[in-house]
Amino acid sequence: MRSWLFCMALVEGLALLGLALQSQEGSFFLKALNLKARPRPRPPSNTTHSVPPLLWKIFQRKNREKEAKDDGGCWLEEFNAPGNIVRLFADQGGSVHLQEPPLCLQKRLYFNLSALEVGETVTAARLEIRFRQNRYRAASTSFDLRLFRVTRAWLKGMSGHPHSRRALLSQSFLHVHKSFAFDVTLVAGEWQTPSQNLGLVLEIAAQDCSGLDSFLEASLFVVSLSSDQDRCRSPRKKRSAYYVPPAAGANVCKPRRLYIGFGDVGWENWIIAPQGYQANYCLGECPFPLTEELNGTNHAILQTIVHSLDPQGTPQPCCVPVRLSPISILYYDNDDNVVLRHYEDMVVDECGCR
Ligand SMILES: *[C@@H]1O[C@H](CO)[C@@H](O)[C@H](O)[C@H]1NC(C)=O
Ligand SMILES: *[C@@H]1O[C@H](CO)[C@@H](O)[C@H](O)[C@H]1NC(C)=O
Repeated sequence: MRSWLFCMALVEGLALLGLALQSQEGSFFLKALNLKARPRPRPPSNTTHSVPPLLWKIFQRKNREKEAKDDGGCWLEEFNAPGNIVRLFADQGGSVHLQEPPLCLQKRLYFNLSALEVGETVTAARLEIRFRQNRYRAASTSFDLRLFRVTRAWLKGMSGHPHSRRALLSQSFLHVHKSFAFDVTLVAGEWQTPSQNLGLVLEIAAQDCSGLDSFLEASLFVVSLSSDQDRCRSPRKKRSAYYVPPAAGANVCKPRRLYIGFGDVGWENWIIAPQGYQANYCLGECPFPLTEELNGTNHAILQTIVHSLDPQGTPQPCCVPVRLSPISILYYDNDDNVVLRHYEDMVVDECGCR
């Protein structure tokens, strides 16, 4: 009897999910999203334009090809790396110093990676340096873009000191592009220890500084794997797809439609997308004899037999999710960083008797 009651409690629990989310701000759901509290970002709800196009692209692709691939759905081809979280950090390194040739621009770059949790592994980091517009410069006048890693605390006027920084890269360009991207995975990985993170110095040198004053901003994409993402690391075997005719009877165990709207629970100001999603739930009977499409365990098959002999003494097996799939959520965290995160087990695809 007790497990039957438990089945019912589960069903009622799901029916009350919306209410529960409203009443306690869904603290258990926040926990499932690995958040300690509901983020309260500063930007108003409709500032979706501040989400960079690259994140939108990944978000849309992820939720389109929902069916996880061999990698568990965690491969991000845009970064050529595995990851279930992509964060965008804004530069907090202060103002730009525009100067005269040969050093046209100097700027300190600092990204506060404290939002990364203990146990997260940085798998890729891309620094993006953006200018207001593309600009073609006279063919003979290239410029050098240099990045240094600051290795020692910085005092005023010490920026040029050869021992306080280490060259990371230096590249020549002919024209100003709207965006330049550099792989800084190794450096960002070490920045997880805050004392190691003294930032970078960006310098642009040229004989002719024209067009270089249109520097706009720098930002850092960080791709990481959270510690609970073992599925990304050990690819799961793909099930062979086969057609199973739907079990007869409306009351038999099967997935039921349940749409969870984030707006209904007051989360629309920090979840950027999706607005909600088809979460579904499992409901129905697990009658004797348990057919194959009810995905029962051997134990459940025996339990239905015993139940048919003694309905009072032994309950039917429970109708529960046996296959779930992930979705990606795009949101603002408390520091106004834009985060794209891949969450496992968010959607019920198949149910079974257990
Ligand atoms: C980084 O951000 C955290 C959380 O917002 C803050 O507590 C910390 O002081 C910041 N560190 C620096 C160096 O700005
Ligand atoms: C059992 O699994 C099959 C395929 O694995 C699926 O087609 C079917 O819908 C599942 N049964 C239920 C009740 O979800």
